[in-house]
Amino acid sequence: MAILVTGGNGFIGSRLVGRLVSEGRDVTVIDKRKAKRLSDANFFLGRVGNKKILEKVLPNIDTIYHEAAIFDSGVRTDNLKSTLDHNIMDTTRMLQTIINNKGFGIKKIILASSMVVYGEGKYKCKKHGIFYPILRTREELERGSWEIRCPKCYNLVVPLPIDENVPVRPGSIYAISKKAQEDLCLRVGEMLDIKVVILRYFNVYGPGINSNHSGVYNSFIKRLSENKPLVVYEDGLISRDFVYVDDIIQANLLVMNRNVSGIFNVGSGERISLIDLAREMNALKGMNLEPFISGKFAIYSPRHCFADISKLKNLGYRPTRLKIGLRNSVMA
Ligand SMILES: NC(=O)c1ccc[n+]([C@@H]2O[C@H](COP(=O)([O-])OP(=O)(O)OC[C@H]3O[C@@H](n4cnc5c(N)ncnc54)[C@H](O)[C@@H]3O)[C@@H](O)[C@H]2O)c1
Ligand SMILES: [Zn+2]
Repeated sequence: MAILVTGGNGFIGSRLVGRLVSEGRDVTVIDKRKAKRLSDANFFLGRVGNKKILEKVLPNIDTIYHEAAIFDSGVRTDNLKSTLDHNIMDTTRMLQTIINNKGFGIKKIILASSMVVYGEGKYKCKKHGIFYPILRTREELERGSWEIRCPKCYNLVVPLPIDENVPVRPGSIYAISKKAQEDLCLRVGEMLDIKVVILRYFNVYGPGINSNHSGVYNSFIKRLSENKPLVVYEDGLISRDFVYVDDIIQANLLVMNRNVSGIFNVGSGERISLIDLAREMNALKGMNLEPFISGKFAIYSPRHCFADISKLKNLGYRPTRLKIGLRNSVMA
């Protein structure tokens, strides 16, 4: 059984490739960046939409891990075309090649999707019950109106863990592209009788993270290495679900080895505010600088976003505790 990992030179992809190779699997990588990391995978330098490469590689593949995507908040329109071309069009070109060849012998496609598709997620008002708000507008953020309120009584509401049935509401261009990848893979899977698994990763952290990543964890790691106070957005009380990179690998292997398809959240199931995360990371580094609350904000970024991981847990998924994962990565 041969496996293709697209984006196999990235933060998550390279870790996945390393693990698959160590299990003795036959692994091929397509990545547009030259392989920097050592592993025994067959490597093809190029875009995922490259028909020549695909026609050479795909006849021997029965499982595709589609990890290749570029992350861009999508606010800057000069990157709009590039984000969509890499994420949507390259996925389309890959799927078209599969369709043109009647599915080759492919049995399963496992797509790396993201929690960004959920938008603002799920909340509960004491009086009016559960609802799914839209992402906060620029105007609300400029006013510093950080927390979500009930649209009926305007009272503050409680965020709930996001399960896979929460309606999707992508905000940024990147989120739109991840949702499009999901839909394209699902439809083509149905058409050709290929099993499709969508893994919605929450905030992934861990050793080996790409230093260009714009995520909060990465910005904290950089500031820590410069002995500077960590900077938190809004009032610091934004909350997230940080999932250890090896748990992402665990989830990917689980859904490959089981006879499953459909959508699964991959988080830690633990919720933490950014200011608490900053304090924990400071403490691990032995720094006692209080985080700087900047009042800045990022448009299309949800106030609270943490996963209900029961569905994956039912398959046997056991995530690493945040404290332990952080110790491994901050000290690395
Ligand atoms: N890191 C996170 O927190 C996170 C969270 C949710 C989802 N994801 C998803 O997980 C996947 C992997 O993310 P990562 O953090 O490892 O990113 P990364 O940037 O480290 O790796 C992505 C790799 O894909 C390659 N690539 C991108 N577009 C390509 C294309 N069209 N053709 C060929 N190669 C291409 C890049 O060269 C890179 O090596 C992505 O699909 C991302 O959307 C990541
Ligand atoms: Zn209400």
